[in-house]
Amino acid sequence: MAKNRTFTMIKPCAVKNGHIGAILAKINEAGFRIVAMRMTRLSKSQAEAFYGVHKERPFFNDLVGFMSSGPVVAAILEKENAVEDYRKLIGATNPENAEEGTIRKLYAESMQNNAVHGSDSDENAALEGRFFFPANECFSVEGKEELV
Ligand code: CMP
Repeated sequence: MAKNRTFTMIKPCAVKNGHIGAILAKINEAGFRIVAMRMTRLSKSQAEAFYGVHKERPFFNDLVGFMSSGPVVAAILEKENAVEDYRKLIGATNPENAEEGTIRKLYAESMQNNAVHGSDSDENAALEGRFFFPANECFSVEGKEELV
């Protein structure tokens, strides 16, 4: 199977609760390589843009407030079958439905404060990755900068 990429954010709740290291360890143990990573804080308008697909949903304003409430860790991850395998590793959106051992089961507080984001398709992974990282901040497994 071809190597491909997904995008993740460790959300403000998990950063605040001190789970960055444990979540990154789970990511590494599951065989993902980190292509790009940065700790940053989204402005309200950046959070609105990132989650624009949900703007008609009743939870949109709360989600934007939450996602801009503190720092996040954004990262691009690489692995064979990255999108699907990462969604398995993080578990269901609602932590009550997440399988034992998944990142959300271990570290989520609620449906909204669900510890991590993971892209739902290869197309969205590319869009979301580009939202945070220019090509010269993405590094292949050999540590080489990406060519634009
Ligand atoms: P994420 O995978 O980042 O994608 C959209 C986010 O919206 C989701 O995780 C949750 O944080 C949030 N979300 C999705 N559904 C609901 C809901 N029903 N109520 C509150 N928040 C939600």
